[in-house]
Amino acid sequence: MFETNNLRIRAVHNTDIIKLHDLWNDLRVQKTLSPAHVIPLGIKFEDTLRSWVSDSLLYCIIETKADSECIGKCKAKNQDARLGLALLPEFWGRGYATEIVGFVVDYAFRELALHRITLNVFESNVRAIRVYEKIGFVREGVQRKANWMEGRWEDVIWMAILREEWKAEQTST
Ligand SMILES: CC(C)(COP(=O)(O)OP(=O)(O)OC[C@H]1O[C@@H](n2cnc3c(N)ncnc32)[C@H](O)[C@@H]1OP(=O)(O)O)[C@@H](O)C(=O)NCCC(=O)NCCS
Repeated sequence: MFETNNLRIRAVHNTDIIKLHDLWNDLRVQKTLSPAHVIPLGIKFEDTLRSWVSDSLLYCIIETKADSECIGKCKAKNQDARLGLALLPEFWGRGYATEIVGFVVDYAFRELALHRITLNVFESNVRAIRVYEKIGFVREGVQRKANWMEGRWEDVIWMAILREEWKAEQTST
Protein backbone atom coordinates (compact mmCIF):
# COMPACT_ATOMS: atom_id res chain seq x y z
CA MET A 1 0.00 0.00 0.00
CA PHE A 2 2.80 2.42 0.87
CA GLU A 3 6.24 2.45 -0.63
CA THR A 4 9.56 3.99 0.37
CA ASN A 5 12.77 3.78 -1.65
CA ASN A 6 13.42 0.11 -0.93
CA LEU A 7 10.38 -1.07 1.04
CA ARG A 8 6.70 -1.84 0.67
CA ILE A 9 4.38 -1.48 3.67
CA ARG A 10 1.22 -3.56 3.58
CA ALA A 11 -1.55 -5.01 5.77
CA VAL A 12 -1.05 -8.25 7.69
CA HIS A 13 -2.65 -11.31 6.07
CA ASN A 14 -3.62 -14.57 7.79
CA THR A 15 -0.64 -16.29 6.22
CA ASP A 16 1.72 -13.73 7.82
CA ILE A 17 0.88 -14.77 11.39
CA ILE A 18 3.20 -17.77 11.22
CA LYS A 19 6.02 -15.52 9.96
CA LEU A 20 5.44 -13.05 12.79
CA HIS A 21 5.43 -15.99 15.21
CA ASP A 22 8.78 -17.21 13.83
CA LEU A 23 10.20 -13.70 14.09
CA TRP A 24 9.28 -13.54 17.79
CA ASN A 25 10.83 -16.98 18.32
CA ASP A 26 14.17 -15.72 17.03
CA LEU A 27 16.20 -15.16 20.21
CA ARG A 28 18.06 -12.17 18.75
CA VAL A 29 14.72 -10.46 18.14
CA GLN A 30 12.62 -11.55 21.11
CA LYS A 31 15.14 -10.41 23.71
CA THR A 32 15.05 -6.85 22.32
CA LEU A 33 11.27 -6.53 22.21
CA SER A 34 9.87 -7.28 25.63
CA PRO A 35 10.94 -7.26 29.27
CA ALA A 36 8.98 -10.51 29.74
CA HIS A 37 10.77 -13.85 30.13
CA VAL A 38 12.55 -14.84 26.95
CA ILE A 39 10.97 -18.23 26.17
CA PRO A 40 9.84 -20.29 23.17
CA LEU A 41 6.40 -18.90 22.39
CA GLY A 42 3.81 -21.58 21.65
CA ILE A 43 0.66 -21.72 19.58
CA LYS A 44 -1.30 -19.46 21.98
CA PHE A 45 1.01 -16.60 21.04
CA GLU A 46 -0.66 -16.51 17.63
CA ASP A 47 -3.87 -15.30 19.37
CA THR A 48 -1.81 -12.55 21.01
CA LEU A 49 -0.39 -11.55 17.63
CA ARG A 50 -3.88 -11.44 16.12
CA SER A 51 -5.10 -9.21 18.96
CA TRP A 52 -2.13 -6.85 18.47
CA VAL A 53 -2.87 -6.65 14.78
CA SER A 54 -6.55 -5.86 15.34
CA ASP A 55 -5.97 -3.41 18.25
CA SER A 56 -3.25 -1.35 16.57
CA LEU A 57 -3.69 1.79 14.56
CA LEU A 58 -1.10 0.50 12.17
CA TYR A 59 0.45 -2.97 12.34
CA CYS A 60 2.09 -3.72 9.07
CA ILE A 61 4.24 -6.13 7.20
CA ILE A 62 7.27 -4.52 5.67
CA GLU A 63 8.63 -6.16 2.54
CA THR A 64 11.68 -5.29 0.55
CA LYS A 65 10.69 -4.50 -2.99
CA ALA A 66 12.93 -7.44 -3.88
CA ASP A 67 10.29 -9.52 -2.06
CA SER A 68 11.77 -10.48 1.27
CA GLU A 69 10.10 -9.74 4.54
CA CYS A 70 10.45 -7.96 7.79
CA ILE A 71 7.82 -6.45 10.11
CA GLY A 72 6.88 -3.29 11.93
CA LYS A 73 4.03 -2.12 14.08
CA CYS A 74 2.66 1.11 15.48
CA LYS A 75 -0.06 1.79 18.08
CA ALA A 76 -1.81 5.01 19.08
CA LYS A 77 -3.71 6.59 22.03
CA ASN A 78 -4.19 10.29 23.09
CA GLN A 79 -2.60 11.27 19.80
CA ASP A 80 0.46 9.56 21.25
CA ALA A 81 1.48 6.52 19.23
CA ARG A 82 3.69 3.77 20.61
CA LEU A 83 6.20 2.69 18.02
CA GLY A 84 7.65 -0.78 17.76
CA LEU A 85 9.68 -2.41 15.04
CA ALA A 86 11.40 -5.69 14.31
CA LEU A 87 13.27 -6.85 11.24
CA LEU A 88 14.51 -10.33 10.45
CA PRO A 89 18.22 -10.41 11.42
CA GLU A 90 19.37 -11.07 7.84
CA PHE A 91 18.04 -7.61 6.92
CA TRP A 92 19.81 -5.70 9.68
CA GLY A 93 22.48 -3.13 8.81
CA ARG A 94 21.13 -2.10 5.41
CA GLY A 95 19.43 1.13 6.48
CA TYR A 96 15.93 -0.40 6.33
CA ALA A 97 14.97 0.55 9.91
CA THR A 98 16.01 4.15 9.31
CA GLU A 99 13.96 4.16 6.10
CA ILE A 100 10.84 2.68 7.70
CA VAL A 101 10.94 4.69 10.93
CA GLY A 102 11.44 7.85 8.88
CA PHE A 103 8.39 6.96 6.82
CA VAL A 104 6.20 6.05 9.81
CA VAL A 105 7.08 9.23 11.71
CA ASP A 106 6.39 11.34 8.65
CA TYR A 107 3.08 9.58 8.00
CA ALA A 108 2.01 9.78 11.65
CA PHE A 109 2.43 13.56 11.80
CA ARG A 110 1.48 14.47 8.25
CA GLU A 111 -1.52 12.16 7.67
CA LEU A 112 -2.66 10.88 11.09
CA ALA A 113 -2.23 14.27 12.81
CA LEU A 114 -0.59 12.69 15.84
CA HIS A 115 1.02 14.82 18.52
CA ARG A 116 3.76 12.52 19.82
CA ILE A 117 5.36 9.20 19.05
CA THR A 118 6.71 7.31 22.04
CA LEU A 119 8.85 4.22 22.37
CA ASN A 120 11.03 2.41 24.82
CA VAL A 121 14.25 0.60 24.13
CA PHE A 122 16.69 -1.44 26.20
CA GLU A 123 20.00 0.33 26.81
CA SER A 124 22.00 -2.52 25.22
CA ASN A 125 20.12 -2.06 21.94
CA VAL A 126 22.57 0.50 20.57
CA ARG A 127 21.57 -0.22 16.97
CA ALA A 128 17.92 0.71 17.64
CA ILE A 129 18.87 3.77 19.72
CA ARG A 130 21.05 4.99 16.85
CA VAL A 131 18.12 4.64 14.42
CA TYR A 132 15.72 6.53 16.70
CA GLU A 133 18.22 9.33 17.38
CA LYS A 134 18.92 9.72 13.67
CA ILE A 135 15.21 10.26 13.03
CA GLY A 136 14.99 12.84 15.83
CA PHE A 137 13.69 10.93 18.88
CA VAL A 138 14.79 12.47 22.17
CA ARG A 139 15.53 10.64 25.42
CA GLU A 140 12.80 11.53 27.93
CA GLY A 141 13.49 9.25 30.83
CA VAL A 142 15.06 6.11 32.13
CA GLN A 143 13.63 3.18 34.05
CA ARG A 144 16.71 2.16 35.96
CA LYS A 145 17.72 -1.51 35.94
CA ALA A 146 14.29 -2.54 34.70
CA ASN A 147 15.24 -5.36 32.36
CA TRP A 148 17.21 -8.53 33.18
CA MET A 149 19.33 -9.21 30.10
CA GLU A 150 22.01 -11.86 29.79
CA GLY A 151 22.95 -11.96 33.45
CA ARG A 152 22.71 -8.28 34.31
CA TRP A 153 20.21 -5.51 34.90
CA GLU A 154 19.90 -2.86 32.24
CA ASP A 155 17.99 0.40 31.95
CA VAL A 156 14.93 0.89 29.81
CA ILE A 157 15.16 4.19 27.93
CA TRP A 158 12.00 6.08 27.00
CA MET A 159 12.21 8.24 23.89
CA ALA A 160 9.74 10.38 21.96
CA ILE A 161 9.46 12.83 19.11
CA LEU A 162 6.95 15.69 19.18
CA ARG A 163 5.07 17.05 16.22
CA GLU A 164 6.82 20.44 16.57
CA GLU A 165 10.25 18.77 16.54
CA TRP A 166 9.35 16.94 13.34
CA LYS A 167 7.99 20.18 11.85
CA ALA A 168 11.14 22.11 12.74
CA GLU A 169 13.20 19.40 11.05
CA GLN A 170 11.00 19.63 7.92
CA THR A 171 11.49 23.40 7.78
CA SER A 172 15.26 23.18 8.17
CA THR A 173 15.71 20.60 5.39
C1 LIG B 1 16.91 -2.36 15.71
C2 LIG B 1 16.67 -2.69 14.24
C3 LIG B 1 15.23 -2.36 13.88
C4 LIG B 1 17.67 -1.83 13.41
O1 LIG B 1 17.49 -2.16 12.05
P1 LIG B 1 18.59 -1.86 10.92
O2 LIG B 1 17.89 -1.97 9.61
O3 LIG B 1 19.78 -2.69 11.17
O4 LIG B 1 18.96 -0.33 11.20
P2 LIG B 1 19.69 0.66 10.17
O5 LIG B 1 20.56 -0.15 9.26
O6 LIG B 1 18.67 1.56 9.56
O7 LIG B 1 20.58 1.56 11.13
C5 LIG B 1 21.40 0.97 12.11
C6 LIG B 1 22.33 2.04 12.67
O8 LIG B 1 22.94 1.52 13.85
C7 LIG B 1 24.34 1.62 13.69
N1 LIG B 1 24.92 0.53 14.45
C8 LIG B 1 24.96 -0.77 14.15
N2 LIG B 1 25.59 -1.46 15.12
C9 LIG B 1 25.95 -0.54 16.05
C10 LIG B 1 26.65 -0.61 17.28
N3 LIG B 1 27.09 -1.78 17.77
N4 LIG B 1 26.83 0.54 17.98
C11 LIG B 1 26.38 1.73 17.52
N5 LIG B 1 25.70 1.85 16.33
C12 LIG B 1 25.51 0.73 15.63
C13 LIG B 1 24.57 1.50 12.21
O9 LIG B 1 25.87 1.98 11.85
C14 LIG B 1 23.44 2.38 11.69
O10 LIG B 1 23.72 3.76 11.87
P3 LIG B 1 24.32 4.64 10.64
O11 LIG B 1 23.29 4.60 9.54
O12 LIG B 1 24.47 6.01 11.23
O13 LIG B 1 25.60 4.02 10.22
C15 LIG B 1 16.95 -4.19 13.93
O14 LIG B 1 18.25 -4.49 14.39
C16 LIG B 1 15.96 -5.14 14.60
O15 LIG B 1 14.90 -5.43 14.07
N6 LIG B 1 16.33 -5.63 15.82
C17 LIG B 1 15.49 -6.57 16.56
C18 LIG B 1 14.22 -5.88 17.07
C19 LIG B 1 14.53 -4.57 17.78
O16 LIG B 1 15.58 -4.39 18.43
N7 LIG B 1 13.57 -3.65 17.68
C20 LIG B 1 13.67 -2.36 18.34
C21 LIG B 1 13.11 -2.51 19.72
S1 LIG B 1 13.04 -0.93 20.54
